[in-house]
Amino acid sequence: MKNTVLTFSVFALMVLGCKDATQVETANSESNESVFTVAEVSEGSTSNLVVDLADTGIKIQPTMYGIFYEDINFAADGGLYAELIKNRSFEFPLPKMGWEEPNSVRYSLNEESGFSKITNYVDPQGGNRRYSHTVVHNDEKYELFNNGFRGIGVKKDDQYNLSLLLANAEGVEQLNVALVDTLGTVLASTEIIPDAKDWKTYEAVFIPNKAEAKARLKITFEGNGTIDMDMISLFPKDTWKGRKNGLRKDLVELLDGLNPGFLRFPGGCIVEGRTLAQRYQWQNTVGPVIERELLINRWNDEFAHKPAPDYFQSFGLGFFEYFLLSEDLGASPVPILGCGMACQFNTGELVPLENLDPYVQEALDLIEFANGDVNTPWGKVRRDMGHPEPFNLKYLGIGNEQWGPEYFERYEIFAKIIGEKYPEIILVSTPGPFSNGDMFDFGWEQMRKLNVKLADEHYYKSPQWFLDNANRYDGYDRNGPKVFAGEYAAHTPGVEDGPLENNWMAALSEAAFMTGLERNADVVLMTSYAPLMAHAEGWQWAPDLIWFDNLQSYGTTNYQVQKLFANNAGTDLLRITEDGKPLIGEQALYASAVKDTEKNELILKVVNTSNVSRKLNVDIKGGSIKSEATVIGMAYEDLYATNSFQEPSKIIPTESEIKVNGERFEAEIPAQSFTIYKIGIEN
Ligand code: AHR
Repeated sequence: MKNTVLTFSVFALMVLGCKDATQVETANSESNESVFTVAEVSEGSTSNLVVDLADTGIKIQPTMYGIFYEDINFAADGGLYAELIKNRSFEFPLPKMGWEEPNSVRYSLNEESGFSKITNYVDPQGGNRRYSHTVVHNDEKYELFNNGFRGIGVKKDDQYNLSLLLANAEGVEQLNVALVDTLGTVLASTEIIPDAKDWKTYEAVFIPNKAEAKARLKITFEGNGTIDMDMISLFPKDTWKGRKNGLRKDLVELLDGLNPGFLRFPGGCIVEGRTLAQRYQWQNTVGPVIERELLINRWNDEFAHKPAPDYFQSFGLGFFEYFLLSEDLGASPVPILGCGMACQFNTGELVPLENLDPYVQEALDLIEFANGDVNTPWGKVRRDMGHPEPFNLKYLGIGNEQWGPEYFERYEIFAKIIGEKYPEIILVSTPGPFSNGDMFDFGWEQMRKLNVKLADEHYYKSPQWFLDNANRYDGYDRNGPKVFAGEYAAHTPGVEDGPLENNWMAALSEAAFMTGLERNADVVLMTSYAPLMAHAEGWQWAPDLIWFDNLQSYGTTNYQVQKLFANNAGTDLLRITEDGKPLIGEQALYASAVKDTEKNELILKVVNTSNVSRKLNVDIKGGSIKSEATVIGMAYEDLYATNSFQEPSKIIPTESEIKVNGERFEAEIPAQSFTIYKIGIEN
C-alpha cells in the first residue's frame, strides 16, 4: 500500500544570522506559502544498506560535537550563573533596577520610611563604582526588596548562601533579611548585626520552608540612621561541583549530558557589541568578581518586539569560569573575540587598521591568560584566581559573524601576529552569517587565500533546508579550510516563535543533516547547535537547545538528537551506502556509520523522515559483527510535538536489544525516526 507522505512547509526565511524584528515578521507571514513533499515511500518497503568495515582513514575528531554557549536569552545572569539577586551591586545604568522600596517616594524626604541613595565610591575599585547609602528614618516602615530575575527560584529545604557587604552603620543596629513569597509570607529569614565601620561581608544561610519560583528578597532595619550596602548576593549552595557562588547545577548537568568535544563562548553577537565600546572585552571579566565591569548585553534592546531592559552582563560568569567549565566538561575551550568590527547587523563600526593593535593585544593576552606560565602577567592572573595549570587553549575565533573585505583585512593582521607568536593556536575565521551567496563565496575565497584552518559557518533555516543539505559538504574541497558548523538550527515554519519551535520536525531534520556532517568528518571538524539555552520568561531568540525557568529545565527534542550524536560519535568514519551511493534522502532515508576503535564497536545512525515504517537489510562487508545489537531510537508521530516543562521526557530515546547475525542483519525502523545501532565487531 502506498501511504501519504511526510510534508514540510517550505520556509522562505531569509535567515541573516541575527534576525531582527522585520525579518521575524517576514518569515512568519511567508511561512505557509507552500508545502513540500519529501518522497513517496511505501509502508514497510525495504532498503538494502551496505556497511563497509574497511578503514576509510578518516577520523571523527574529538571536537566533532560541541557546545556553543552564548549569553543570549538570560543564559548567563539569570541562568547558568546561579546568582539570584539582580543588580546586586547597584551598577546597572538605572542603579535601582531590580530593587523596590514600596513605602518610599523618590521625590520626598521619606521621613516616614527611608531611602536608598545610590552613591559613587570616592575611590572605586575596577567596575565597582557605587553602593547604596541607605537612610532609615522610620525602621517600622522602610523596606527594600529585590525581585531577582523574574522572581527568585528557591527549593524547599535546600540551602542558600546569603551575603551582604556592609559599612558605616550609624543608628541602624540590625538588618532583617528574608525570602518572602508572592503574598509576603516568610520562607526563610536571618538577622544581621553590622558590627564594623569598614566594609565587611556578612553571611547567612537560608533554608526555605517551601518551594517558590517567584520569591523576593526583603530587607528591613532595626534602628533609625544610615548604613552603606553593596554586593547583596544570594546563591544556592548546591551548585555545579559544589563551588561557592558557582553555576546552576541542573543546567550544567544538561550540558554535561551532551558530552561536548568543545565549548565555544561567550557568543554570538555579544562578542562584537552593537558598538565597539560595547564589545565583549574578556580582560574585564576576570579577577575579583566584585571588580568586574558591568556591560549592557547586546540582546537587551536588540529586538524592539522583545525588549529586555534588565539584561546586563555582570560577568560573574567570565572567561575564567568559561575555561573552568570547559575543563569540567572535558571540552576544548573555543573563545571567540572581537576583531575591531562591531556587529554588522547593528552599527558595523570599524576600528581603523592603524588602531587595531589593542584588539590584537587582547587576543595575545588571552592566549597568555589561558596557557601562559604563571610568571607571565596574565598567567599570574590565572594562578591568582586558583588555576596555576594552563587551560590548554588550542582554538581561538577571530570575529564572530563578520563579512566583507574589511573583515579579512583585519583577520589577516590578527593571523600574522598571533601566528608568529603562537603558531600552535588554530584560528577560526568565518564566511559570515550566510549559508551561500556572494558574501559567503567571497568569504571562502578569502579564507582559502589566507590559508585559514577552520571556517565557522552559520545557518538558521527551515527543516526542509536541512533535509536538502544533507549532502552540503560532499562536494567541499578536501584540501581547503576545514569546517566548523558553529551555529545551526532548524526553524519550523508556521510555528509560534518560542519553545514550540523545538519540535520533532526540526529535530528530525537536524538529525538527517547531521548524518551528512558525520559522513564528511574529513571536512567538518566541529559542529554546534545554536543558541544553547533560554529562560522561558526572558528569551529573545528561539528555538534553543535547553529551556529553563527559575526552578526547572529540560532538554528539547533537538537536545536529545545532539546528545545521541555526541555520545555515539565513534572514532573512525565508515562507509554506509545503498546501491553504492550515500544515503542523503532518497526514499527519505539518511545514514552514517562510524566505528569506535576503543570499544571495537560499529555504530550506525539512520534517519527515516517518511511517515511510514521501513525495513532495513544491512549487509556488513570487510568483517563480521557480534550477535546482539543495542538499538537506541527516537520516533514520534506528531512532528509538531515538543518536550516541555510539563512533559520533559515526551520525546526521548528508548533503548532495546535485537539479535543480529554475523554479516547481515534485518531491522525495522519506525516512521519519522532517528535510530542508532551499536554492534560489537568480531576481531
Ligand atoms: O545565536 C543567535 C545569533 O545568531 C548569534 O548571536 C549570532 O552569531 C547569530 O547571528
